Amino acid sequence: MPIDLAPFVGALPKAELHVHIEGTLEPDLAFAIAERNGSTLPYASVDELRAAYRFSNLQDFLDVYYACAGVLFESRDFYDLTWAYLLRARADNVRHAEIFFDPQTHTARGVAFETVVDGICQALDDARDKLGLTSRLILCFLRHLDEADAFETLEAAMPRRDRIIGVGLDSGERGNPPSKFARVFRRAREAGFVAVAHAGEEGPAEYVREALDVLEVVRIDHGNRALDDPALVDELVRRRIPLTVCPLSNLKLCVVDDMTSHPLKRMLDLGLFVTVNSDDPAYFGGYVNDNYVAVAEALGLGKDDLARLARNSIEAALLDDAHRARLTGLLERAVSSSWQ
Ligand code: ADE
Ligand code: ZN
Repeated sequence: MPIDLAPFVGALPKAELHVHIEGTLEPDLAFAIAERNGSTLPYASVDELRAAYRFSNLQDFLDVYYACAGVLFESRDFYDLTWAYLLRARADNVRHAEIFFDPQTHTARGVAFETVVDGICQALDDARDKLGLTSRLILCFLRHLDEADAFETLEAAMPRRDRIIGVGLDSGERGNPPSKFARVFRRAREAGFVAVAHAGEEGPAEYVREALDVLEVVRIDHGNRALDDPALVDELVRRRIPLTVCPLSNLKLCVVDDMTSHPLKRMLDLGLFVTVNSDDPAYFGGYVNDNYVAVAEALGLGKDDLARLARNSIEAALLDDAHRARLTGLLERAVSSSWQ
């Protein structure tokens, strides 16, 4: 009988580096927030909404995701959303989370940038104080929108530079290459933001190359399609560029046909710096530990591999040396006691 890896995964202190806060909006909370705001969802019930979680590609998912994010108006909505995620993450032994948010989804509906950031940050502060869970916030530009919109969003973020560590790039990848945002990312880097970008989820290896060369990212979100280009793989390995891989997301969005064909094991064997993350857990059927377990079961990963993935998550996080050393110490103690 195969061993149950869930307790081992649960015992590993870890970082989560790829999670969209809007993607953690569970149906029950979406309906509760809609009701108190007097707004409506384009679904009659929780069951009807859940039934819409059948996607054949990224855009199918994004249509539902943006519709649900449309219930969020007040700071307390963003607080409740973020707090609910942080409780789930802490239950998965996440000790540090780097969280994406999509301000343009909200500012386009008349919600002030500050309303979004204030609500999220209050929950992040509470999680640090009450749960011992630290975090960083990363602003994602929506790549289906134009450069001018991204510039406006970056300007809105400048006064909150103290709370936002980096910029990222998400939404529909095909036809929206990283180079479309070359100037925005240059300005953001000059202002001190760290750069990351979704690349190679549905888009080609060339987009991963552009994210590195043009946007000068320090991490690639997803990166699956990089495997199509051996020279790019060599560079990612040589430069130790982390990939924030999201197995259940890849399955739900048909990036892979089934979990046994997920490239994560191949990535590890090639020497790539891989981490495991949940992406949009409310929509994809599991939080971060579910992702570790699903991919381990499908690909036959062992405890050593799982510990390596957790170690990578801490190493790839945007942390100072002392903070990283503290989390690494926690992890190594957990790993050694699990072998006893
Ligand atoms: N926004 C939220 N989740 C996303 C994903 N997996 N890819 C691109 N944009 C996203
Ligand atoms: Zn993502």
